[in-house]
Amino acid sequence: MISSYYIIPESLDEALDALAAHAALGSTRLIAGGTDVLVELDQGAPRPRTLVDISRLPGLDQVTLQDDRIHIGPLVTHNQAVASPLIRDHAWPLLRACWEVGSPQIRNRGTLAGNLATASPANDTIPALWVLDAQVTLASVRGRRTLSFPEFFLGVRRTARAEDEMIVDIHFPVPPPTARGTFIKVGLRRAQAISLVNIAVWLDFAGERVREARIALGSVAPTIVRAPAAEAALVGHLLTPERIEQAAARVQEAIQPIDDIRASAAYRRHLAEVITRRALEQLAQGREREGWVEDPVMLWGHTDGHYPPAPQPQTLPAHSPVTLRLNGDLITLPDASHLTLLDALRERGFLTGVKEGCGEGECGACTVWLDGISVLACLTPAARAHGAEVVTVEGLAHDYRLHPVQEAFAQDGAVQCGYCTPGFIMSSASLLAERPHPTAEEAMQAVAGNLCRCTGYTQIIEAIVEAGQ
Ligand SMILES: Cc1cc2nc3c(=O)[nH]c(=O)nc-3n(C[C@H](O)[C@H](O)[C@H](O)COP(=O)(O)OP(=O)(O)OC[C@H]3O[C@@H](n4cnc5c(N)ncnc54)[C@H](O)[C@@H]3O)c2cc1C
Ligand code: FES
Ligand code: FES
Repeated sequence: MISSYYIIPESLDEALDALAAHAALGSTRLIAGGTDVLVELDQGAPRPRTLVDISRLPGLDQVTLQDDRIHIGPLVTHNQAVASPLIRDHAWPLLRACWEVGSPQIRNRGTLAGNLATASPANDTIPALWVLDAQVTLASVRGRRTLSFPEFFLGVRRTARAEDEMIVDIHFPVPPPTARGTFIKVGLRRAQAISLVNIAVWLDFAGERVREARIALGSVAPTIVRAPAAEAALVGHLLTPERIEQAAARVQEAIQPIDDIRASAAYRRHLAEVITRRALEQLAQGREREGWVEDPVMLWGHTDGHYPPAPQPQTLPAHSPVTLRLNGDLITLPDASHLTLLDALRERGFLTGVKEGCGEGECGACTVWLDGISVLACLTPAARAHGAEVVTVEGLAHDYRLHPVQEAFAQDGAVQCGYCTPGFIMSSASLLAERPHPTAEEAMQAVAGNLCRCTGYTQIIEAIVEAGQ
């Protein structure tokens, strides 16, 4: 069971009222994309009495420019940030950090505000926003306040946010044209990997010399840390190889990494130095945007990646029916509001094409389209789909004709046991809706969040490319 009550407010004021009223009773949580909340619940975190789902509040998923500051709404997802021209032009380290989060399906639901609120020292957007000198604005029925990052982040997964407060804005000054920055992450694989160490670097130049330096590292201390000694080593100097070596060596003064399942403290120390050097070399050589594909794969099909607002406010007690447009038909799933969308589709809708591989966002076997956007059903509450439109693999064929991706998978032998196949098909069909003739590179990006343990990926990629032909 996800929670006893699931509240879908219609406006920010309603959300704040609900937070205040239920916070007084204890055990209330906000849920946005749910990509952290549902994993925590799956791993045994205490069930909240009430979840307040803010993910369909209108107008809060925009990146805007006001008074020389860039404002990121609390519902801006990582993929929306990657697609934002303002972030691309003025906040390159943030774009790179958002692009490194999870997989396309995670980036289509996970928000930057949720990333900050979770406050894991490994979270990727925090160092990037930190070097951009970002602030967070919190709102509650008691009013608003704005905090700097050092004021907001208090420790491992601890922030200054009170239980009845919501992040309503993340904002930072437009950097001067003389500033440039970058972000680098090292994980154990290319997608779906928590940072072993990450770094964001922002430098402002006076001619060729560094006027101001900001360096923030993640996964090397209980919170993200700035590296003041390394920053000081750069200010007033040219970015020569010797100067870069000095700065890289001095990040050691800021970090206290620990041994854990992913890496030893000694390895993290080594990595911190290596990626500081790499980041500074990129900036010295002007290579920080090298290799970036201008039109990255989003897996948001024909949409622009923005979800429609909720049709009406609702409070769904556990075991309520959930009504949605499912594969084109208006359907009511009984006794479903306390389930994940994955369980509701399988156990109440009898759509067993949606598979559970991991139940925590790692394998992509449960990929479905929510209002046209690829998401993971295991990390989506069924109640989130109330009044929305969902498409599963059962909904792809039309008039007894398979979707071209289904045909190509069958013809090319891109299936062995078939367990992962519905997830791959949904991601691939979403890619084809987004760009009808994908390249092999684009096909690889599209299925970065889908794991197959037996076919191997060659035939799968070939089938996707062929489907586009
Ligand atoms: C498979 C997988 C891979 C991942 N990979 C990465 C990765 O590579 N890098 C990375 O940094 N993260 C990663 N994550 C973590 C997660 O996706 C991000 O932290 C995401 O940004 C969380 O946003 P959300 O909207 O889903 O948050 P939710 O899960 O909805 O909420 C997370 C927390 O934030 C609170 N919250 C949400 N919105 C607000 C708000 N506006 N105001 C106040 N509190 C709020 C919630 O109450 C909750 O405590 C991964 C997660 C999964 C499952
Ligand atoms: S990602 Fe949902 S079951 Fe694995
Ligand atoms: S075909 Fe068996 S897991 Fe992919």
